[in-house]
Amino acid sequence: MESRYDVRSSKTTIGDIMNTFNIDNIRQDFPALNQLNRNRPLVYLDNAATTQKPNQVIDVISTFYRTSNANVHRGIYEISERATEAFESARQKAADFIHAEDSSSIIFTRGTTEAINLVAYAWGLHNLSPGDEILVTEMEHHSNIIPWQLIARKTGSILRYIPINEDGTLNLENSDIFFTSKTKIVAVIHQSNVLGTINPVKEIIQQAKQVGAISLVDGAQSTPHFKVDVQEIGCDFFAFSGHKMVGPTGVGVLYGKRELLESMEPFQGGGEMIKSVTFEESTWNDVPWKFEAGTPNIAQAIGLGAAIDYLNDIGIDQIHTYEQELTEYALDILEKIPGIQIYGQAPNRGAVISFNVDGVHPHDMVQFLDQDGIAVRGGHHCAQPIMKKFNVSATTRASFYLYNTRDEIDHLVESINKTASFLRR
Ligand code: ALA
Repeated sequence: MESRYDVRSSKTTIGDIMNTFNIDNIRQDFPALNQLNRNRPLVYLDNAATTQKPNQVIDVISTFYRTSNANVHRGIYEISERATEAFESARQKAADFIHAEDSSSIIFTRGTTEAINLVAYAWGLHNLSPGDEILVTEMEHHSNIIPWQLIARKTGSILRYIPINEDGTLNLENSDIFFTSKTKIVAVIHQSNVLGTINPVKEIIQQAKQVGAISLVDGAQSTPHFKVDVQEIGCDFFAFSGHKMVGPTGVGVLYGKRELLESMEPFQGGGEMIKSVTFEESTWNDVPWKFEAGTPNIAQAIGLGAAIDYLNDIGIDQIHTYEQELTEYALDILEKIPGIQIYGQAPNRGAVISFNVDGVHPHDMVQFLDQDGIAVRGGHHCAQPIMKKFNVSATTRASFYLYNTRDEIDHLVESINKTASFLRR
């Protein structure tokens, strides 16, 4: 069936990709884009924080609540069966989207943060001993630092960081000093939410395997933007969030290799995750339900399934190519702004650009841009160690998604120039 996004006759405004990528149709799917921000048309460029939602996702969630709302795996009446079927079908969609072996390796969580915490507590707490090492990188989001700091404190293990270079790539020269027989888990961000760097996770995981360590990839910023294949990457765990990929908040996924999941203790206890319970002891449900205590985020998971359908309908490769073009365009014109410093110049990068302009505090920049209708994030982006590395307390960050346009980037640049001239007067 021909997708309505694949309209080859549409007007072309940005390279060849636009021949098959109808931005007008896409934008119409997102009602929140069509509004004013401080009385100016909204230019939403904070997609690394969260993305807007298309009607297709909003409608699926609303239809679920209108017609099929019931608890899952419990009721043997029609609407409960319907809810269970939709919930489990979303699990299969998530498995297919990242090319997992099968849906039993997909655990629904609240998001990437909870997924990483699950691994830290359900695996780390029981498998790490004093002197063992947890290896992360200097470009991690706090969600891939704090859980490990907490577990390191409880187990006596040590947290080590692979350093980053000035250009925002990982410094993997002499990496042997980090990958040792003491390394038990390597947890690495796939695409940096600050620098945009896409890390060579496959190579890093190969190195982890050579020293017998298991691995986790934080895919919060990669899964929405380019094709992820967990089997090809070879990781043991992979985490991502629904809300950064046009899905609802409150849902994410932890992918895990089945044998590992089976060997692990539960994360949380409650209903759903048990096989049998007596006053004395209990036995656990099969994976993945062993890790889904309590009533799960049913509507959100179904909404995530709809988000995956939406992205698949357009084509994740198409989205990636479009974003690459937008990012190149943005970098090209941003670099011409007098006094701008862009943090992260990795050759392999995604649609996230962090910058500062001489003489302008990022919080002032964000507020002035807001007056022009532009939504960007200013601050430490939940990655304070990167700020320290680059000797700044904060940056301004623009991050793009499939519905952004060159016109919006032109407007951003114009507004940055206007702000800088005004504040430097
Ligand atoms: N992790 C999100 C961001 O980078 C919230 O903005």
